Amino acid sequence: MSAVNEDESASEGSRILVVYFSRTGEQYTVGVIDHGNTAIVAEMIAEKTGADLFEILPEDDHYPMTYAELTDVAKSEQNENARPAYAGEVPDLSQYDTVFIGAPVWWGDWPMIMYTFFEENAEALAGKNLVPFSTHEGSGLSGFDKKLSAAIPESTVLEGLATRGNDCQNDQDSVRKSVYDWIAELGF
Ligand SMILES: Cc1cc2nc3c(=O)[nH]c(=O)nc-3n(C[C@H](O)[C@H](O)[C@H](O)COP(=O)(O)O)c2cc1C
Repeated sequence: MSAVNEDESASEGSRILVVYFSRTGEQYTVGVIDHGNTAIVAEMIAEKTGADLFEILPEDDHYPMTYAELTDVAKSEQNENARPAYAGEVPDLSQYDTVFIGAPVWWGDWPMIMYTFFEENAEALAGKNLVPFSTHEGSGLSGFDKKLSAAIPESTVLEGLATRGNDCQNDQDSVRKSVYDWIAELGF
């Protein structure tokens, strides 16, 4: 009996998943960081909602290069419409009603590794509420919502949130407030 109850409460408390990609190392306007901007927002969402977290990590490496080199690599991946592989096993998505999905804006779009995730998991994500979030340095949400909706058309895409990467490092109180307000408006 108690095992059943524990199972029930565990599933009740984990209907939300946060999936994110974020990079440490040298980054635009913030120098070398050991905690990625998008990771900071992802963790705030989890802190507020009790969601589980899944980090998309590239299978080969974690783009261990300078910002300038990374911009070239990212541009090539975009031009080639690449689908970089990610490491690890995605949690069983059937456990979740809502999936927050976040990444930095790279050249005005989701990093290509996110399209790998969308395509590999499109069936499992169909029918769910998907909530996009970005970090950026001027491009805002950059159409993340429309692109997510196009990638997983049978989902319901809710209002997204765009956060300045620099604020994630240097003004966390205001970022936390806007994350919490957004979550409250979404009704979670
Ligand atoms: C390859 C690359 C491309 C980028 N392109 C854009 C862009 O098009 N628009 C923008 O506002 N910021 C752009 N940025 C800035 C990042 O979106 C921003 O620094 C983000 O917060 C990084 O998040 P992370 O620390 O989670 O990786 C780019 C950064 C990189 C590394």
